[in-house]
Amino acid sequence: MKKEKPSIGADSRNKPFYLTTSIAYTNAKPHVGHAYEAVLADIIARDKRATGQEVFFLTGTDEHGSKILRKAKEEGMSAQAFVNQISEFFKVLYGKLLISNDDFIRTSDKEKHWPGAQKLWEKLVASGDLYKKNYKGFYCVGCEGFITEKELVNGLCVLHGKAPEVVEEENYFFRLSKYAKILEEKILSNELTVLPEVRKNEIISFIQEGLEDISFSRPEASVPWGVPVPNDKTHMMYVWCDALSNYITGVGYGRNEEQFNSLWPADMHIIGKDILRFHAVFWPAMLLSAELPLPKSVLVHGFILSDGKKMSKSLGNVIDPEEYINEYGAEAFRFFVAKEIPPFEDGDFTKQKFIDSYNGNLANGLGNLLSRTVAMAEKYFDGNITPHSPESVPFVKKLKSPTGDQEIEGYGVSYTIEQEIIPKYRECMDEYRIHHALDNVFVLVKELDGYIANYEPFKLIKTDKDKTEDVLWNVLLGLRTVGELIRPVMPETSALIEDIITGDIKSAEPSSFSVKPLEKPLFARITS
Ligand code: MSP
Repeated sequence: MKKEKPSIGADSRNKPFYLTTSIAYTNAKPHVGHAYEAVLADIIARDKRATGQEVFFLTGTDEHGSKILRKAKEEGMSAQAFVNQISEFFKVLYGKLLISNDDFIRTSDKEKHWPGAQKLWEKLVASGDLYKKNYKGFYCVGCEGFITEKELVNGLCVLHGKAPEVVEEENYFFRLSKYAKILEEKILSNELTVLPEVRKNEIISFIQEGLEDISFSRPEASVPWGVPVPNDKTHMMYVWCDALSNYITGVGYGRNEEQFNSLWPADMHIIGKDILRFHAVFWPAMLLSAELPLPKSVLVHGFILSDGKKMSKSLGNVIDPEEYINEYGAEAFRFFVAKEIPPFEDGDFTKQKFIDSYNGNLANGLGNLLSRTVAMAEKYFDGNITPHSPESVPFVKKLKSPTGDQEIEGYGVSYTIEQEIIPKYRECMDEYRIHHALDNVFVLVKELDGYIANYEPFKLIKTDKDKTEDVLWNVLLGLRTVGELIRPVMPETSALIEDIITGDIKSAEPSSFSVKPLEKPLFARITS
């Protein structure tokens, strides 16, 4: 039975599709996980725009808390100067990666972020959901959170492999327990869609195990780097409470109500699997308490592994995205993570995989097909390809049959594109299976290679000029289609293909193509 698709973003106001990444901690320079999340979100944003939806895309940096304060001290810098520097690294990286975010929110921004974060706090107070309590617990600075004794393994935090600190303080507590039932219902009914299903099940089990109230502030004396609690100078907001509110402050909450009302609720928060509970439990509970609408969905991606292992400084296997971007270009990086890392699972990143995928799909695949086709169009037709009867030169497929291999005439190229390639691509993209959408595009590239091998236009030109022109026309149509379909992933390559092959691919009647000579190969082969 076909599962019913969650309809994310359906809104009677027909408002822009509002999507966010998580906001990265500014305790260190960005790594490949941050680059991956930004690219994933950007591909989704660009794809939505390509389908005619208006989009608002927010990203930013999470700049408060003990972890950052300690790091700044180690570097001998003020916390503010330190986060300014690191936040800039993120902006530069996202710029290089062609991330098309509409705004960038920083939690140390006293004008854009603090008023909304404090307003939200006051709403929680008004709902009676914040109370003070003496507390003794285990605090993991890596997680920036208290962890319970039962979550420790051999006395260590599982995620960070470190012993937590024992903290005894009087803190404000948030009545998370009050919202357990309603959150469970909203997630089960997909009113708050958690994707993929396995993450939905994981969070439901977490809720069913019982939710405890959580500490929502830290004494100013022990963590002086944060958003001050309104009307209580002795406390700072807990860093996650402050950070999560970026999703509303970034679109005007507390300073531009018109913008806020036109964009909230978010259609999608894109996050990694380690911060699921913050986004699918803590955050919606805060919104319920403040009587604000809940986000429509949380898309949870897996982790990038380095040669099968979790990245860590001690293993020396941390992947620096800049290295790849500087050497092979941002588009090659975007392509690799989109095609080879399944968004809902962990995916392995190695230099060899990167090179193999690049050479196979881009240099020998798409790039080679483009240069061969353009060269033939130039040589035989001065770069102007006029269709005669392109449907009469179909794909020919080899089929295995019990009596031996059999060749059958397949469908016309444009028919295959419209009836097979594009619908499959759309289905995959709508389900955020970007790697599968790209697999489908590169099947077309392979089929077009096979098409040339089959009709041999370089020989056919001697006997049938019109048929040769139709063969080339079909390949150019395929290449332009590939260009269109890769646009969310490789916007510059897509624009380049459109520039090299001009012609209307949307008209009902086939129209002519003009091609420009290539100055250099689209993707130079990586030799290593
Ligand atoms: N500051 C918090 C998020 C607050 S959102 C209100 C945080 N920051 S982080 O810098 O540690 O992580 C930022 C994002 O990067 C998270 O979604 C996290 O899951 C993701 N990744 C961190 N390491 C990763 C990989 N190795 N692979 C893919 N994504 C990973 O958490």
